[in-house]
Amino acid sequence: MPEPADLLVVNASELVTCAAGAEGPLRGDDLAAPGIIEGGAVATRGDRIVGVGTTAELTARFVATQTLDADGCVVLPGIVDPHTHLVFGRTREDEFELRCLGSTYEEIAAAGGGIRASSRRFQATSRDDILAQAQATRRRALLHGTTTIEVKSGYGLSTESELLALEIAGAIDDRGDVVRTFLGAHEVPDAWRDDREGYIRLVCEEMIPAVAARRLAQFCDVFCEQHVFTQDETRTIAAAAARHGLAMKVHADELAGTGGAELAVELGAVSADHLMQVSDAGIDALSGSDTIAVLLPGTSFFLGMRHFAPARRMIDAGCAVALATDCNPGSSMTENPQAVLTIACIGLGLRPIEAIAAMTRNAAFAIGVGDEVGRLEPGYRADLLITDCANHRLLPYHHGVNHMRTVIHHGDTVS
Ligand code: NIG
Ligand code: FE
Repeated sequence: MPEPADLLVVNASELVTCAAGAEGPLRGDDLAAPGIIEGGAVATRGDRIVGVGTTAELTARFVATQTLDADGCVVLPGIVDPHTHLVFGRTREDEFELRCLGSTYEEIAAAGGGIRASSRRFQATSRDDILAQAQATRRRALLHGTTTIEVKSGYGLSTESELLALEIAGAIDDRGDVVRTFLGAHEVPDAWRDDREGYIRLVCEEMIPAVAARRLAQFCDVFCEQHVFTQDETRTIAAAAARHGLAMKVHADELAGTGGAELAVELGAVSADHLMQVSDAGIDALSGSDTIAVLLPGTSFFLGMRHFAPARRMIDAGCAVALATDCNPGSSMTENPQAVLTIACIGLGLRPIEAIAAMTRNAAFAIGVGDEVGRLEPGYRADLLITDCANHRLLPYHHGVNHMRTVIHHGDTVS
């Protein structure tokens, strides 16, 4: 007797399952072998995957209400973007122009621009306008293949505005696909420049308890960086987060190497993000830990840097490497994950298949949802992408266009 399915996707030239090997994120050589079924097919029922195999196997096994023909193109798991700052309200193209003319990100920040400029703009924007921006950004990300997304606060920088940012991140989450992170320690805001200890107390004693009490975030992040928050300040904030049940993430070793990766491991953080300047000791620490190395090559690119995170060394050392957009109005103004796949291949030296695995299966582990999304396997959520690419290498190679033909989210076709 054939089994019932709601949807059968058939005739994938390559079905990239990302389901190969043992549990957990893919490390080392395994990142390049995440599992590909030629002539593949997927069956879904409700919001779950119920069958994965060849087209011949699944058409014999299932009778489906609807069949979609991938028509000899690649099918892959919905992309997981594990690091965004997408609730920002207003953009910073003025700073972009300054950077085009030679100013650096740090110079602009030191002159009062950067995150502080965004914070002033955020505070001067209505809730409705911020919500509209966040909704539109999330929608575009989905249409480019991002079915699960992490969203940080960090442009409010007051208790009220940080709570608002997280509340808006919740409001754009209609199906449980937005994982929220509190990033009150993104920068010391204008009002606290002469009393940074006071601001850190506010983060620890007022913001974190309020975020936890209202269940507005699962993670707490800190921008641990020269001229922003120190290692010790990060430890203080992490201790407050732990007291209130928030797991840690760390913006680590982005612009200057300050031992951020080692600190993230010491804190048991779920991820250490950026890592452009990670040290050998940092790579060593990450490789022996469960902390995921979230690389953001779109940020190196957008900041005009020639230097990228040492991804190849990290993969060879056994670090679990993931990719994210870092979508934000300052250092990476894109919500398109396909752009990041291309930059990851060119800037980080990843193979196309490694980049895909890093932005699906491994990315899911960077936000604690690796048992739910990021791969095509029975029991996982029915998030999958039918592309217009005849093989997986075309996805990063032919850049600057949207390769998504059909985005299937929770078993439903998005249009
Ligand atoms: O991830 N590094 C800290 N935060 C962002 C930049 C935010 C901004 O410039 O608005 C980042 O690069
Ligand atoms: Fe970031």
